[in-house]
Amino acid sequence: MTDTQHAWIINHYAEGELKGTELEWVERPVPEPAEGEVLVKTLLLTLDPSNRVWLSEEEDYLPQLQIGDVMRGLVVGRVEASRHPGFAVGDHVFAALGWQEYALVQGDELSPAKGAVRFTPHPDIPLDAYVSALGLTGWTAYVGMKLIGQIKAGDQVLVSGAVGATGMMACQIARAAGARVVGIAGGAGKCELLVTELGMDGCIDYKASPDLAEAIAGQFPDGVDVFFDNVGGPMLDAALENMNIGGRLVISGAISQYQNYGDREALYGVKNTFMLASKRLRMEGFLVLDYLDRLEKILPEMEQWCLDGSLRYQNTEVQGLENAQDALPRLFSGDHVGKLVVRVA
Ligand SMILES: NC(=O)c1ccc[n+]([C@@H]2O[C@H](COP(=O)([O-])OP(=O)(O)OC[C@H]3O[C@@H](n4cnc5c(N)ncnc54)[C@H](OP(=O)(O)O)[C@@H]3O)[C@@H](O)[C@H]2O)c1
Repeated sequence: MTDTQHAWIINHYAEGELKGTELEWVERPVPEPAEGEVLVKTLLLTLDPSNRVWLSEEEDYLPQLQIGDVMRGLVVGRVEASRHPGFAVGDHVFAALGWQEYALVQGDELSPAKGAVRFTPHPDIPLDAYVSALGLTGWTAYVGMKLIGQIKAGDQVLVSGAVGATGMMACQIARAAGARVVGIAGGAGKCELLVTELGMDGCIDYKASPDLAEAIAGQFPDGVDVFFDNVGGPMLDAALENMNIGGRLVISGAISQYQNYGDREALYGVKNTFMLASKRLRMEGFLVLDYLDRLEKILPEMEQWCLDGSLRYQNTEVQGLENAQDALPRLFSGDHVGKLVVRVA
Protein backbone atom coordinates (compact mmCIF):
# COMPACT_ATOMS: atom_id res chain seq x y z
CA MET A 1 0.00 0.00 0.00
CA THR A 2 1.28 3.49 -0.80
CA ASP A 3 1.82 6.24 1.80
CA THR A 4 0.07 8.98 -0.16
CA GLN A 5 -3.24 9.25 -1.95
CA HIS A 6 -5.23 11.73 -4.01
CA ALA A 7 -8.57 13.38 -3.32
CA TRP A 8 -10.88 16.02 -4.78
CA ILE A 9 -11.77 18.75 -2.25
CA ILE A 10 -14.30 21.60 -2.53
CA ASN A 11 -12.62 24.70 -3.99
CA HIS A 12 -15.77 26.81 -4.45
CA TYR A 13 -19.52 26.22 -4.60
CA ALA A 14 -21.25 25.64 -7.94
CA GLU A 15 -23.45 28.27 -9.55
CA GLY A 16 -25.40 27.41 -12.70
CA GLU A 17 -23.64 25.08 -15.10
CA LEU A 18 -20.55 23.31 -13.75
CA LYS A 19 -17.31 25.12 -14.64
CA GLY A 20 -14.84 22.37 -13.79
CA THR A 21 -13.12 24.52 -11.13
CA GLU A 22 -15.44 23.65 -8.24
CA LEU A 23 -13.05 20.93 -7.03
CA GLU A 24 -9.31 20.92 -6.41
CA TRP A 25 -7.03 17.87 -6.82
CA VAL A 26 -4.85 17.33 -3.75
CA GLU A 27 -2.31 14.82 -2.51
CA ARG A 28 -2.37 13.74 1.15
CA PRO A 29 -1.16 10.90 3.38
CA VAL A 30 -3.05 7.63 3.61
CA PRO A 31 -4.24 7.57 7.23
CA GLU A 32 -3.73 4.72 9.71
CA PRO A 33 -6.83 3.34 11.42
CA ALA A 34 -7.12 3.91 15.17
CA GLU A 35 -9.17 1.67 17.50
CA GLY A 36 -12.71 1.25 16.06
CA GLU A 37 -11.73 2.59 12.63
CA VAL A 38 -11.60 0.99 9.19
CA LEU A 39 -9.52 2.01 6.16
CA VAL A 40 -11.41 1.51 2.90
CA LYS A 41 -9.85 1.58 -0.56
CA THR A 42 -12.09 3.08 -3.25
CA LEU A 43 -12.56 0.75 -6.21
CA LEU A 44 -15.44 2.41 -8.05
CA LEU A 45 -16.93 5.89 -7.60
CA THR A 46 -20.38 6.68 -8.96
CA LEU A 47 -21.09 10.05 -10.54
CA ASP A 48 -24.62 11.03 -9.57
CA PRO A 49 -26.87 13.95 -10.49
CA SER A 50 -27.10 14.74 -6.78
CA ASN A 51 -23.36 15.63 -6.89
CA ARG A 52 -24.46 18.93 -8.44
CA VAL A 53 -26.94 19.51 -5.60
CA TRP A 54 -24.30 18.73 -2.97
CA LEU A 55 -21.90 21.19 -4.64
CA SER A 56 -24.41 23.97 -4.21
CA GLU A 57 -24.22 26.46 -1.36
CA GLU A 58 -27.95 25.88 -0.76
CA GLU A 59 -28.85 23.51 2.11
CA ASP A 60 -30.23 20.15 0.91
CA TYR A 61 -31.20 16.82 2.47
CA LEU A 62 -27.65 16.06 3.68
CA PRO A 63 -25.26 18.18 5.80
CA GLN A 64 -23.78 21.12 3.87
CA LEU A 65 -20.29 20.48 2.47
CA GLN A 66 -17.73 23.11 3.47
CA ILE A 67 -14.91 24.59 1.37
CA GLY A 68 -11.92 22.25 1.79
CA ASP A 69 -14.06 19.15 2.49
CA VAL A 70 -13.52 16.05 0.40
CA MET A 71 -16.25 15.94 -2.26
CA ARG A 72 -19.10 13.67 -1.19
CA GLY A 73 -19.53 10.62 -3.43
CA LEU A 74 -20.81 7.08 -3.34
CA VAL A 75 -18.24 4.34 -3.68
CA VAL A 76 -17.82 0.63 -3.76
CA GLY A 77 -14.75 -0.01 -1.67
CA ARG A 78 -12.77 -2.79 -0.07
CA VAL A 79 -11.49 -2.85 3.50
CA GLU A 80 -7.68 -2.58 3.46
CA ALA A 81 -7.09 -2.38 7.22
CA SER A 82 -9.44 -2.73 10.16
CA ARG A 83 -9.34 -2.07 13.89
CA HIS A 84 -13.06 -2.71 14.24
CA PRO A 85 -14.20 -6.18 15.30
CA GLY A 86 -17.06 -6.17 12.74
CA PHE A 87 -14.84 -5.66 9.66
CA ALA A 88 -12.09 -7.76 8.13
CA VAL A 89 -9.62 -7.00 5.36
CA GLY A 90 -11.30 -7.80 2.02
CA ASP A 91 -14.89 -6.94 3.09
CA HIS A 92 -16.82 -4.91 0.50
CA VAL A 93 -18.84 -1.83 1.38
CA PHE A 94 -21.07 0.61 -0.47
CA ALA A 95 -21.01 4.00 1.24
CA ALA A 96 -20.63 7.75 0.75
CA LEU A 97 -16.87 7.72 1.38
CA GLY A 98 -16.06 10.58 -0.96
CA TRP A 99 -13.89 11.39 -3.97
CA GLN A 100 -10.66 9.97 -2.55
CA GLU A 101 -8.54 6.90 -3.02
CA TYR A 102 -8.70 5.81 0.64
CA ALA A 103 -11.23 6.70 3.33
CA LEU A 104 -10.82 6.34 7.06
CA VAL A 105 -14.14 5.73 8.75
CA GLN A 106 -15.55 4.61 12.10
CA GLY A 107 -16.66 1.00 11.61
CA ASP A 108 -19.91 1.82 13.43
CA GLU A 109 -20.71 4.37 10.72
CA LEU A 110 -20.77 1.66 8.05
CA SER A 111 -24.38 0.66 8.72
CA PRO A 112 -27.67 1.04 6.81
CA ALA A 113 -28.83 3.57 9.40
CA LYS A 114 -25.86 5.75 8.35
CA GLY A 115 -26.40 5.18 4.62
CA ALA A 116 -23.82 2.41 4.17
CA VAL A 117 -24.16 -1.22 3.17
CA ARG A 118 -21.74 -4.10 3.57
CA PHE A 119 -22.12 -6.77 0.89
CA THR A 120 -20.51 -9.92 -0.40
CA PRO A 121 -20.26 -9.75 -4.19
CA HIS A 122 -21.86 -12.75 -5.87
CA PRO A 123 -19.08 -14.82 -7.50
CA ASP A 124 -20.92 -14.91 -10.85
CA ILE A 125 -21.73 -11.18 -10.99
CA PRO A 126 -19.11 -8.57 -11.98
CA LEU A 127 -18.30 -6.04 -9.26
CA ASP A 128 -19.38 -3.14 -11.48
CA ALA A 129 -23.00 -4.34 -11.24
CA TYR A 130 -22.88 -3.19 -7.61
CA VAL A 131 -22.69 0.46 -8.70
CA SER A 132 -25.61 0.26 -11.14
CA ALA A 133 -28.14 -2.59 -11.34
CA LEU A 134 -27.30 -3.69 -7.79
CA GLY A 135 -26.20 -0.28 -6.51
CA LEU A 136 -28.07 2.79 -5.35
CA THR A 137 -29.70 3.49 -8.70
CA GLY A 138 -30.96 -0.10 -9.02
CA TRP A 139 -32.36 0.01 -5.48
CA THR A 140 -33.97 3.37 -6.31
CA ALA A 141 -35.72 1.80 -9.28
CA TYR A 142 -36.87 -1.13 -7.15
CA VAL A 143 -38.20 1.02 -4.30
CA GLY A 144 -39.77 3.52 -6.69
CA MET A 145 -41.47 1.05 -8.98
CA LYS A 146 -42.46 -1.62 -6.49
CA LEU A 147 -42.97 0.08 -3.12
CA ILE A 148 -44.03 3.59 -4.17
CA GLY A 149 -45.50 2.94 -7.64
CA GLN A 150 -47.13 -0.36 -6.61
CA ILE A 151 -46.56 -1.60 -10.13
CA LYS A 152 -48.77 -4.45 -11.35
CA ALA A 153 -49.39 -6.45 -14.51
CA GLY A 154 -51.27 -4.52 -17.17
CA ASP A 155 -50.21 -1.06 -15.93
CA GLN A 156 -49.36 1.51 -18.59
CA VAL A 157 -45.98 2.88 -17.47
CA LEU A 158 -43.97 5.91 -18.61
CA VAL A 159 -40.36 6.42 -17.43
CA SER A 160 -38.31 9.60 -17.99
CA GLY A 161 -34.50 9.53 -18.16
CA ALA A 162 -35.11 5.98 -19.35
CA VAL A 163 -31.60 5.22 -20.61
CA GLY A 164 -29.91 6.61 -17.50
CA ALA A 165 -28.87 4.37 -14.61
CA THR A 166 -32.11 4.56 -12.62
CA GLY A 167 -34.46 4.78 -15.58
CA MET A 168 -33.02 1.73 -17.31
CA MET A 169 -33.61 -0.36 -14.19
CA ALA A 170 -37.06 1.12 -13.55
CA CYS A 171 -38.14 0.19 -17.08
CA GLN A 172 -36.98 -3.41 -16.73
CA ILE A 173 -38.52 -3.88 -13.27
CA ALA A 174 -41.89 -2.64 -14.54
CA ARG A 175 -41.70 -4.78 -17.68
CA ALA A 176 -40.86 -7.89 -15.63
CA ALA A 177 -43.95 -7.18 -13.50
CA GLY A 178 -46.09 -7.42 -16.65
CA ALA A 179 -46.57 -3.71 -17.34
CA ARG A 180 -46.48 -2.05 -20.76
CA VAL A 181 -43.47 0.29 -20.63
CA VAL A 182 -42.51 3.29 -22.73
CA GLY A 183 -39.43 5.37 -21.92
CA ILE A 184 -38.41 8.94 -22.69
CA ALA A 185 -34.78 9.46 -23.74
CA GLY A 186 -32.66 11.90 -25.74
CA GLY A 187 -31.73 10.66 -29.20
CA ALA A 188 -32.55 7.89 -31.64
CA GLY A 189 -29.61 5.72 -30.50
CA LYS A 190 -30.77 5.67 -26.88
CA CYS A 191 -34.35 4.92 -27.96
CA GLU A 192 -33.21 2.05 -30.14
CA LEU A 193 -31.25 0.56 -27.24
CA LEU A 194 -34.29 0.74 -24.99
CA VAL A 195 -36.62 -0.98 -27.45
CA THR A 196 -34.43 -3.44 -29.33
CA GLU A 197 -31.89 -4.40 -26.66
CA LEU A 198 -33.94 -4.04 -23.49
CA GLY A 199 -37.30 -5.04 -24.97
CA MET A 200 -39.41 -2.06 -23.94
CA ASP A 201 -42.69 -1.35 -25.74
CA GLY A 202 -41.71 2.07 -27.03
CA CYS A 203 -39.53 5.11 -26.58
CA ILE A 204 -40.10 8.81 -27.07
CA ASP A 205 -37.08 10.78 -28.26
CA TYR A 206 -37.79 14.04 -26.44
CA LYS A 207 -35.14 15.87 -28.45
CA ALA A 208 -37.13 15.11 -31.62
CA SER A 209 -40.57 15.76 -30.08
CA PRO A 210 -41.49 19.45 -30.14
CA ASP A 211 -44.77 18.73 -28.29
CA LEU A 212 -43.95 16.14 -25.64
CA ALA A 213 -47.51 15.91 -24.25
CA GLU A 214 -48.74 15.03 -27.74
CA ALA A 215 -45.95 12.49 -28.21
CA ILE A 216 -46.91 10.81 -24.92
CA ALA A 217 -50.59 10.76 -25.96
CA GLY A 218 -49.54 9.06 -29.21
CA GLN A 219 -47.81 6.27 -27.27
CA PHE A 220 -50.56 5.97 -24.66
CA PRO A 221 -54.00 6.02 -26.33
CA ASP A 222 -55.41 4.56 -23.07
CA GLY A 223 -53.49 6.96 -20.80
CA VAL A 224 -50.66 6.50 -18.29
CA ASP A 225 -51.17 4.64 -14.98
CA VAL A 226 -47.66 5.11 -13.55
CA PHE A 227 -45.13 7.83 -14.35
CA PHE A 228 -41.64 7.22 -12.91
CA ASP A 229 -39.97 10.62 -13.14
CA ASN A 230 -36.22 11.18 -13.05
CA VAL A 231 -36.27 14.48 -14.95
CA GLY A 232 -38.98 16.86 -13.65
CA GLY A 233 -39.62 20.30 -15.20
CA PRO A 234 -41.66 20.42 -18.43
CA MET A 235 -41.57 16.61 -18.69
CA LEU A 236 -43.57 16.32 -15.49
CA ASP A 237 -46.13 18.75 -16.89
CA ALA A 238 -46.43 16.77 -20.12
CA ALA A 239 -46.95 13.54 -18.17
CA LEU A 240 -49.55 15.11 -15.86
CA GLU A 241 -51.67 15.88 -18.93
CA ASN A 242 -51.69 12.21 -19.91
CA MET A 243 -52.35 10.48 -16.58
CA ASN A 244 -55.36 8.22 -16.05
CA ILE A 245 -57.75 8.80 -13.16
CA GLY A 246 -56.19 7.27 -10.04
CA GLY A 247 -52.69 7.26 -11.59
CA ARG A 248 -49.47 7.29 -9.59
CA LEU A 249 -46.52 9.64 -10.14
CA VAL A 250 -43.29 8.36 -8.58
CA ILE A 251 -40.87 11.24 -8.12
CA SER A 252 -37.35 9.84 -8.12
CA GLY A 253 -35.66 13.13 -9.00
CA ALA A 254 -35.64 16.18 -11.26
CA ILE A 255 -32.32 16.19 -13.08
CA SER A 256 -33.45 18.89 -15.53
CA GLN A 257 -33.50 21.34 -12.60
CA TYR A 258 -30.29 20.53 -10.73
CA GLN A 259 -28.03 22.98 -12.55
CA ASN A 260 -30.31 25.70 -11.21
CA TYR A 261 -30.47 24.28 -7.69
CA GLY A 262 -30.79 27.13 -5.21
CA ASP A 263 -31.87 29.70 -7.83
CA ARG A 264 -35.66 30.00 -7.38
CA GLU A 265 -36.06 32.35 -10.34
CA ALA A 266 -34.44 29.91 -12.75
CA LEU A 267 -36.27 26.78 -11.55
CA TYR A 268 -39.17 25.57 -13.74
CA GLY A 269 -42.62 26.10 -12.17
CA VAL A 270 -44.89 23.08 -12.80
CA LYS A 271 -48.17 24.26 -14.32
CA ASN A 272 -50.49 21.26 -14.41
CA THR A 273 -50.97 20.71 -10.67
CA PHE A 274 -54.79 20.89 -11.03
CA MET A 275 -54.56 17.48 -12.76
CA LEU A 276 -53.65 16.05 -9.35
CA ALA A 277 -57.14 16.93 -8.15
CA SER A 278 -59.18 16.45 -11.30
CA LYS A 279 -57.66 13.02 -11.98
CA ARG A 280 -57.34 11.99 -8.31
CA LEU A 281 -53.62 11.30 -8.75
CA ARG A 282 -51.09 10.28 -6.13
CA MET A 283 -47.68 11.96 -6.55
CA GLU A 284 -45.04 10.75 -4.09
CA GLY A 285 -41.34 11.45 -3.79
CA PHE A 286 -38.94 9.22 -1.92
CA LEU A 287 -35.27 8.84 -0.99
CA VAL A 288 -33.81 5.37 -1.32
CA LEU A 289 -31.62 6.09 1.73
CA ASP A 290 -34.75 5.63 3.86
CA TYR A 291 -35.09 2.04 2.64
CA LEU A 292 -31.56 0.68 3.12
CA ASP A 293 -32.65 -1.51 6.04
CA ARG A 294 -34.74 -3.51 3.55
CA LEU A 295 -31.76 -4.22 1.35
CA GLU A 296 -31.00 -7.56 2.92
CA LYS A 297 -34.19 -8.84 1.25
CA ILE A 298 -34.05 -6.73 -1.94
CA LEU A 299 -30.44 -7.42 -2.95
CA PRO A 300 -30.64 -11.25 -3.28
CA GLU A 301 -33.83 -10.88 -5.34
CA MET A 302 -32.12 -8.39 -7.67
CA GLU A 303 -28.97 -10.53 -7.87
CA GLN A 304 -31.15 -13.39 -9.05
CA TRP A 305 -32.63 -11.14 -11.79
CA CYS A 306 -29.08 -10.29 -12.92
CA LEU A 307 -28.16 -13.95 -13.03
CA ASP A 308 -31.24 -15.01 -15.01
CA GLY A 309 -30.85 -12.08 -17.42
CA SER A 310 -34.10 -10.29 -16.57
CA LEU A 311 -32.17 -7.26 -15.23
CA ARG A 312 -29.47 -6.02 -17.59
CA TYR A 313 -27.22 -3.03 -17.08
CA GLN A 314 -24.71 -0.89 -18.93
CA ASN A 315 -22.14 1.38 -17.34
CA THR A 316 -20.19 4.18 -18.93
CA GLU A 317 -16.79 3.91 -17.29
CA VAL A 318 -14.26 6.72 -16.83
CA GLN A 319 -10.72 5.61 -15.97
CA GLY A 320 -8.95 7.22 -13.01
CA LEU A 321 -10.11 9.44 -10.14
CA GLU A 322 -8.15 12.33 -11.68
CA ASN A 323 -10.73 12.44 -14.52
CA ALA A 324 -13.80 12.58 -12.26
CA GLN A 325 -14.35 16.35 -12.27
CA ASP A 326 -14.16 16.58 -16.07
CA ALA A 327 -16.67 13.72 -16.41
CA LEU A 328 -19.33 15.22 -14.12
CA PRO A 329 -21.06 17.48 -16.73
CA ARG A 330 -21.73 14.36 -18.85
CA LEU A 331 -24.60 13.59 -16.46
CA PHE A 332 -26.42 16.69 -17.60
CA SER A 333 -25.56 16.56 -21.31
CA GLY A 334 -26.72 12.91 -21.50
CA ASP A 335 -23.31 11.88 -22.87
CA HIS A 336 -23.45 8.45 -21.26
CA VAL A 337 -25.56 5.28 -21.20
CA GLY A 338 -26.58 3.72 -17.89
CA LYS A 339 -24.47 4.48 -14.83
CA LEU A 340 -21.59 6.94 -15.18
CA VAL A 341 -18.86 5.51 -13.00
CA VAL A 342 -15.19 6.20 -12.30
CA ARG A 343 -12.84 3.23 -11.93
CA VAL A 344 -10.47 4.38 -9.22
CA ALA A 345 -8.53 1.16 -8.63
N1 LIG B 1 -34.84 9.32 -4.96
C1 LIG B 1 -33.65 8.74 -4.77
O1 LIG B 1 -33.35 8.19 -3.72
C2 LIG B 1 -32.68 8.77 -5.91
C3 LIG B 1 -31.51 7.99 -5.91
C4 LIG B 1 -30.67 8.03 -7.03
C5 LIG B 1 -30.99 8.86 -8.11
N2 LIG B 1 -32.13 9.61 -8.04
C6 LIG B 1 -32.52 10.49 -9.14
O2 LIG B 1 -32.74 9.72 -10.29
C7 LIG B 1 -32.51 10.55 -11.42
C8 LIG B 1 -31.59 9.83 -12.38
O3 LIG B 1 -30.34 9.59 -11.75
P1 LIG B 1 -29.30 8.62 -12.42
O4 LIG B 1 -28.22 8.38 -11.44
O5 LIG B 1 -30.03 7.50 -13.02
O6 LIG B 1 -28.74 9.58 -13.54
P2 LIG B 1 -28.26 9.33 -15.02
O7 LIG B 1 -27.71 7.98 -15.18
O8 LIG B 1 -27.41 10.48 -15.37
O9 LIG B 1 -29.60 9.42 -15.84
C9 LIG B 1 -30.30 10.60 -15.99
C10 LIG B 1 -30.82 10.72 -17.41
O10 LIG B 1 -31.56 11.92 -17.52
C11 LIG B 1 -31.41 12.45 -18.81
N3 LIG B 1 -31.38 13.90 -18.70
C12 LIG B 1 -30.40 14.67 -18.16
N4 LIG B 1 -30.75 15.98 -18.23
C13 LIG B 1 -31.96 16.01 -18.83
C14 LIG B 1 -32.85 17.07 -19.19
N5 LIG B 1 -32.54 18.34 -18.96
N6 LIG B 1 -34.02 16.75 -19.79
C15 LIG B 1 -34.32 15.46 -20.05
N7 LIG B 1 -33.53 14.42 -19.74
C16 LIG B 1 -32.36 14.70 -19.13
C17 LIG B 1 -30.08 11.93 -19.38
O11 LIG B 1 -30.15 11.37 -20.67
P3 LIG B 1 -30.82 11.93 -22.02
O12 LIG B 1 -31.15 13.36 -21.80
O13 LIG B 1 -29.77 11.75 -23.04
O14 LIG B 1 -32.00 11.06 -22.19
C18 LIG B 1 -29.72 10.78 -18.44
O15 LIG B 1 -29.71 9.54 -19.08
C19 LIG B 1 -31.95 11.86 -10.92
O16 LIG B 1 -32.99 12.80 -10.88
C20 LIG B 1 -31.49 11.51 -9.53
O17 LIG B 1 -31.47 12.60 -8.67
C21 LIG B 1 -32.96 9.56 -6.99
